[in-house]
Amino acid sequence: MASVDVPVALLGYGTVGAAVNRLLNEQADDIERATGHRLRIVKALVRDLDKDRGFPAGSDVLTTSIDEILADPSITVVAEVMGGVEPAGGYVLDLLRAGKHVVTANKQLVARRGAELFEAASEGGVQLRFEASVCAAIPVIKVLRESLLVANVHRVLGIVNGTTNFMLTQMEVGSTYEEALAEAQRRGFAEADPTDDVTGADAAAKMAILATIAFNSRYELSDVDTIGIDRIDPLDVAAARELDMVIRLVGQARLVDGHVDVRVSPAFVDRHHPLAAVEGAFNAVMLQGDAIREITLEGPGAGGVETASAVIADMASVIGTMGTGFLKNDAVWRSLPRLAPGDATSPYYFHLSVDDRPGVLARVAEALAENSVSIARLRQHQNGEGRAALHVVTHEARQGALHAALETLAALDEVHRPPLPFPVVSDRGFGDFEWE
Ligand code: NAP
Ligand code: HSE
Repeated sequence: MASVDVPVALLGYGTVGAAVNRLLNEQADDIERATGHRLRIVKALVRDLDKDRGFPAGSDVLTTSIDEILADPSITVVAEVMGGVEPAGGYVLDLLRAGKHVVTANKQLVARRGAELFEAASEGGVQLRFEASVCAAIPVIKVLRESLLVANVHRVLGIVNGTTNFMLTQMEVGSTYEEALAEAQRRGFAEADPTDDVTGADAAAKMAILATIAFNSRYELSDVDTIGIDRIDPLDVAAARELDMVIRLVGQARLVDGHVDVRVSPAFVDRHHPLAAVEGAFNAVMLQGDAIREITLEGPGAGGVETASAVIADMASVIGTMGTGFLKNDAVWRSLPRLAPGDATSPYYFHLSVDDRPGVLARVAEALAENSVSIARLRQHQNGEGRAALHVVTHEARQGALHAALETLAALDEVHRPPLPFPVVSDRGFGDFEWE
């Protein structure tokens, strides 16, 4: 097969961009043998031409002008690896409208402006691919869209942020929150501004994308009910250990009676559940569907080379299927209603700081019982200053009912600080826990 030289461009030449160039150079022969194409980066958009780069871009490759890429007819495929919603969003729209295929690693862009971008791609007769935007090296988009085309997926459960998973596992072995975050930034897992990682916004964007393609109904970032790891109390970490669980930032998208529910929050995960074994910057996504029962994909969820491998695979897919791709750009063909937030159900963990005196436990039990919330497990620790910490695990409860009970509890004089509930993830019945 005659080899074809394909000039490509990058928007961004940071952690991911430099890794894309390095892999394209180091594995050029393998890519050529597999696809018949030799991908060559001819332009890369940056802000600062003088910055030191991990892998040099080559002479005349770096530019600060998007017009050099837009106006170059030899560039037909562009990878957006710069991040942010603007100016990245405007650049991607202009590229699609100019008839250039785009591959993006930018989950915030796809989760906020997907409708507009996919429409522009379809109108321009070009492809917009986004594998690297969710879970870096794990090929979950391709699996959901192509391999599971008729699997009727109704639940996606996963750990989809590498930074926070790395931080939580470091904190389990004694690192402070600040030390763990600094190390995640040093290793290139964290976003340029790690606020998106720790507040759950990064995971929420990925869950919005996964829900959209799993259920073929648009779900945007603002639709995702999100709590980040910045809300975790050290008391919760200690309680999880005692309850034979670990804390993980878990995303869940469910189709319940034709209604969609998508949420991200720290969860208490049973140590025997597969998600508890996911450590460091690894991610895992469990897909449940009628035809497949359950498929779990696990692998590196962040990092330059890990993300670059997905970017390059998308570029190769675009080049190999130009004009022949069997998928429409936009996975959306219906509009499903959202599940009312209060109707979502889960077992929950919460802790209460209460006065340690007669009758307090009875009041707590009464508030829960009045809202039909049943206690599965209860632990109490004295703090020696006339107060006690109550750690409560409930049976499956409606979120609305739990919140009503917690509001009643927060209003009691004997309860200090409003409690924050976390979902519990477990495949075992509570009777199977070896709690004494
Ligand atoms: P990064 O290291 O901060 O690199 C960003 C690059 O974009 C830099 O080269 C920067 O230029 C350039 N850039 C940013 N704003 C620009 C602007 N307004 N005009 C021109 N150039 C601009 O970020 P990254 O870690 O590579 O991440 C890039 C994208 O990949 C993000 O969307 C991120 O969410 C996604 N992603 C990252 C990972 C990961 O593990 N790092 C994993 C999956 C997905 P300068 O170098 O001149 O500053
Ligand atoms: N900051 C992201 C993470 C990068 O830690 O998962 C991968 O999207």
